[in-house]
Amino acid sequence: MAIMLGSSVVILTGAGISAESGVSTFRDNDGLWENHRIEDVATPSAWENNPDLVWKFYQTRRRQLLQVEPNPAHFALAKLEQGVDDFTLITQNVDDLHERGGSSNVIHMHGRLRTLRCEVSKKFEERMEEEDLQNHFLFCTCCAEPNRVRPDIVWFGEMPMHLEEIYEAVGRCDYFIVIGSSGHVYPAAGLVNVANSCGAKTILVNFENPANSFAFDEIHLGKAGEILPDLVNSWLD
Ligand code: APR
Repeated sequence: MAIMLGSSVVILTGAGISAESGVSTFRDNDGLWENHRIEDVATPSAWENNPDLVWKFYQTRRRQLLQVEPNPAHFALAKLEQGVDDFTLITQNVDDLHERGGSSNVIHMHGRLRTLRCEVSKKFEERMEEEDLQNHFLFCTCCAEPNRVRPDIVWFGEMPMHLEEIYEAVGRCDYFIVIGSSGHVYPAAGLVNVANSCGAKTILVNFENPANSFAFDEIHLGKAGEILPDLVNSWLD
């Protein structure tokens, strides 16, 4: 099915698109990340009560960014972006693999590992130098009296980022394509319903049927790194 030239395409990716790059997903190995339940470390109260554990958890994931590479699925989306006039890439992922795979203007609705956020000014800055990746706490460069910085991540119970821009794009798209997401976490998992209500064609590319599979017009099951390149070629034909 060729995506008509001039169409508006919105992509939403989840952890599944980074799985073949070696980045652990959240719910494939019963929601554990190196024996931490996500719900126990990705929350404001965990940061409040046990900042050492939360900080080490995120520093480990930030250091891991230096060991992983984009996979063919990331490159396929960059190719799709070049072939479509009106393209929006929204990701739930906090890694930088879309950018490194050649995608531009990536909307990170759950935050990013590469940036850290001042707890007072809320300003964020990229902090990925060697000295920024150790296990000791880091301090901001934006306040006269430096304040501790936190991971620039949207934790459970916090508002996802860029929602206005996201709903604007999904509300006017012709194609809404979800890649590598289990459909468990809202509001991301509800975006397909917004797309359907606006008459978009909704397509899923995932290793297995997700929780919200009923909502998609078309489903392609398989590993994104294996099946997305051919799908993108068929969409651009
Ligand atoms: N190719 C395609 N899909 C894959 C692959 C792969 N190689 N490997 C795994 N998957 C699928 C799994 O079958 C699963 O449906 O990717 C999905 C990953 O689901 P989750 O681990 O739940 O990740 P995600 O949907 O991104 O989680 C959403 O939950 O923990 C929070 O904030 C976190 O952004 C995350 C959000």
